[in-house]
Amino acid sequence: MRSLLVTNIGELVTADPAWGEGPLGIRHNAALVIDDRRVEWIGRAADAPAADARLDADGAAVLPGFVDSHSHLVFAGDRAPEFAARMGGQPYTGGGIRTTVGATRAADDEQLRTNVARLRNEALRQGTTTMEIKSGYGLSVADEARSLRVAREFSVETTFLGAHVVPAEYADRTDDYVSLVCGPMLTAARSAGARWIDVFCERGAFDADHSRAILTVGADAGLGVRIHANQLTEGPGVQLAVELNAASADHCTHLSAADIAALAGSATVATLLPGAEFSTRSPYPPARALIDAGATVALATDCNPGSSYTTSMPFCIALAVREMAMTPAEAVLAATRGGAAALRRRDIGHLTVGARGDLVVLDAPSYVHLAYRPGVPLTTTVVLNGELV
Ligand code: NIG
Ligand code: FE
Repeated sequence: MRSLLVTNIGELVTADPAWGEGPLGIRHNAALVIDDRRVEWIGRAADAPAADARLDADGAAVLPGFVDSHSHLVFAGDRAPEFAARMGGQPYTGGGIRTTVGATRAADDEQLRTNVARLRNEALRQGTTTMEIKSGYGLSVADEARSLRVAREFSVETTFLGAHVVPAEYADRTDDYVSLVCGPMLTAARSAGARWIDVFCERGAFDADHSRAILTVGADAGLGVRIHANQLTEGPGVQLAVELNAASADHCTHLSAADIAALAGSATVATLLPGAEFSTRSPYPPARALIDAGATVALATDCNPGSSYTTSMPFCIALAVREMAMTPAEAVLAATRGGAAALRRRDIGHLTVGARGDLVVLDAPSYVHLAYRPGVPLTTTVVLNGELV
């Protein structure tokens, strides 16, 4: 593979304090070389070695590619009328999930694949170089398996979310549905290459006992654990995530002091999804309290047709800064290194020697512009796995 020199970097965000100034490990007037898909050299632009190809950043900021550790890209249809009704005062309950399950089951494989490709490319153009993708709109053995097979065509970070809600045909038979999820559906999900298992632990979805049962059997089968926790109400999700040493507790919108302390004392990342609060007009998660307590925080889009139909990590960064009292540096760290931690990955989310060659060049002199210039398409160039996109 051809080596790539990225030079004249005005502000290089390594996202590793050992590699530069401050928490983001910033270096000025820097260059880096990617060879064989990995960062091979970092130094002063004046000392840059030759490489097969050259990308001149012309004084701009360069960041690690964003790691979006939570998305639901495999679906059909949209729910614009539901969003409009919500903006007219209707509450969000998660009840629309069944609408998308109907549309997804009715779609053929090619329609699902085309929709994932469209959204994945949309994210990539905005700087997302790693994207976790969940199932969860199939909710039958065959439909969950094909959702995961389609997701696996686009990402190695695929998550089995058969326990998203109880589908209509199992109404009032939750125990039977949980048995299906823990048995044949899990077997099919593993064959389809799922790496993670997730549960929507919430009133109206799955309670603590059902969630624990599903996640435990998934973990025993070799899947990593993540949980939709405390999104709509304070509930048992966060404590369960910590109890099970989940990689991530996602949403964390309604937290008690004990939840914050539990996350801070654990290896479970608090993944915040401010697009969901924006699109459901809900209070934002207590990011400041989590960070001040010492929890590791990630930011992700939660891209889905109901609660958060955005693929934009820069939008989530801007929301986190403006609405959640995070500093621009904290938000960028959460969108890169935090996302990597939520996926238990060490090779992505930072730009240091040995890291994967994933980066973003901004049309801006500093990473601060991601929040300072909200809604502006600042990503000029993306490098994915050492290759210009
Ligand atoms: O993460 N909370 C559960 N699942 C999604 C929403 C799904 C939907 O409304 O379609 C979420 O917000
Ligand atoms: Fe979600």
